[in-house]
Amino acid sequence: MKFFATSLILFSTLVSIRADPQILNLREYLNGTIATVNNVEDGASLYVASNDSPDSLNNIQITTGGNTYRLSDLAAVNPDGKPNKVVINGGLTITTTNPNTVTYALSGCIYITTAAQTNDPAFQVFVITGSHHVDLTGFSTTVVLNTQLKVQTDDADQPQKSTYVQNLVVPDTHISVAFQWGIPAANWKQITNNQFFMNPFSFKTVDNSGNVVNQAYLFDHVEPLQVSLDYWYITSNGSITMDMQNNFVSDHVSTATAVTTTGILVNNNYLFEQHTVNLLSDPTRSRTVGTLLSAYPSSNAVVNFVFNGTDGSFVQTVDNKLNATGEIQTTQLSTSTFTITSTDITAGIFYCQYFALNGALLATTASTAAPSTGNTQNTQTTVNVQGTTGSTVVAGSTLSTVPTVPGTTGSTVVAGSTLSTGSTVNVPGTTGSTVVVGSTGSSAATVTAVPSVSSTMKTTAATTVSAGTGSTNQGTTVSPGTGSTSLISTTTIATTTSSVRSLSVLSSVIISILML
Ligand SMILES: *[C@@H]1O[C@H](CO)[C@@H](O)[C@H](O)[C@H]1NC(C)=O
Ligand SMILES: *[C@@H]1O[C@H](CO)[C@@H](O)[C@H](O)[C@H]1NC(C)=O
Ligand SMILES: *[C@@H]1O[C@H](CO)[C@@H](O)[C@H](O)[C@H]1NC(C)=O
Ligand SMILES: *[C@@H]1O[C@H](CO)[C@@H](O)[C@H](O)[C@H]1NC(C)=O
Repeated sequence: MKFFATSLILFSTLVSIRADPQILNLREYLNGTIATVNNVEDGASLYVASNDSPDSLNNIQITTGGNTYRLSDLAAVNPDGKPNKVVINGGLTITTTNPNTVTYALSGCIYITTAAQTNDPAFQVFVITGSHHVDLTGFSTTVVLNTQLKVQTDDADQPQKSTYVQNLVVPDTHISVAFQWGIPAANWKQITNNQFFMNPFSFKTVDNSGNVVNQAYLFDHVEPLQVSLDYWYITSNGSITMDMQNNFVSDHVSTATAVTTTGILVNNNYLFEQHTVNLLSDPTRSRTVGTLLSAYPSSNAVVNFVFNGTDGSFVQTVDNKLNATGEIQTTQLSTSTFTITSTDITAGIFYCQYFALNGALLATTASTAAPSTGNTQNTQTTVNVQGTTGSTVVAGSTLSTVPTVPGTTGSTVVAGSTLSTGSTVNVPGTTGSTVVVGSTGSSAATVTAVPSVSSTMKTTAATTVSAGTGSTNQGTTVSPGTGSTSLISTTTIATTTSSVRSLSVLSSVIISILML
């Protein structure tokens, strides 16, 4: 009985090994050998994805269950992109009579599923040889096998295989689509972390009350997606459509085709040169940008993913010691470009979905003409407060995205305000400008003040006066405690000239450094 149980376990282990889906590269099957393919399940489906010459394919045969097929017959693809298939029954062998020089130059592959995948009507396979319109319905898993590209650009880093996906339509937010790298595993319905594109795009954001909330944004507009992989798959749970093409368009520099949009940049262990996407901007609205990033750089490459805007930049860096898998990062930035650079042309593997998305109307539009005394702005809308006397950023406000508060007399950043990374509050304050005790800022948050007579900077951190041209108090460090008043050299300013601005006295107050 015990023996029986043990052999059952062994048996089921064997079965699960046998069931692993496989990709076999045709270039590995050499003349003069009868190659037996192991771990192939009866009932599994076999597909061929190849646009190698028909003569070469004619010389390659597979045999299963006593039947022999020529790859030239199996490689034919229907106009809808659906390939022929052979169902495995009783093992699989591959033979070729091509000379090895021909074999080494082959680009195609054989794909073998599991029996369970064959039996699942929602599991389908496309081979992209030309242009195919693809309609997906319900919960489906769709494998896409690419064939060698027919176009040849001048790009040193053009991939061998790529699908050009256009006109992706996800009709409503109740439907989602994900692109995933690799082929679906034997347990393909389990949750994986190999998504490199998703629509809707799910991310965390902060609501008006400062709470972190999950948001899923459905992009109506998607850039053409160059899926530069040999094979990949789609999981979707409703009706979606797209056009797929065996095509590649040089994209070292591209320009987004809508203000709110998303796209991908993928590198499959091939050469990589800098890529830049010029994002469109909308100065009237706040902008959220972000990425879904997985990256496994080569040992000598440092790869940077950079959003650059007029109000700052957002940089993610990966190298061989700091890989990323499925990382979602977002920030608010008036981005103008998204750039990927690598310190080495052999960058390794990365998959990056980027997006740029319009948010709320900026307060700026309503208040470019300075608002009057006592104007109060809460976060989210407080990006530019052209405040005059008494302008305040209220306690508890969270200023993400590089807000600018060019307040004049009496401008205050009230106790308890939180400045996140990269926040800059410009307070070119005149008499009476204050940064109140207890303000905090994360890494790199700075308050730049151009104070005049009697300005006070009260902070909980040391204040370093790194003054500009004409200032006589450069390098002065005052270490105020609670409630202290560090006068930024009233005498210097007051006595040098009557024009405060012309002195360009900048004092940087690093309010506090909270590393993220
Ligand atoms: C390929 O193999 C066949 C049979 O094994 C042999 O007759 C033929 O000479 C080989 N051709 C080349 C080019 O190696
Ligand atoms: C599709 O997936 C999304 C994301 O997981 C989910 O919100 C939605 O309810 C699903 N739709 C259906 C029809 O199950
Ligand atoms: C981003 O902008 C800064 C400042 O203009 C510039 O120095 C940097 O090279 C830019 N980075 C990229 C990747 O474009
Ligand atoms: C990152 O990925 C590369 C490529 O897969 C791998 O060689 C390296 O060990 C990984 N690094 C870490 C720290 O996991």
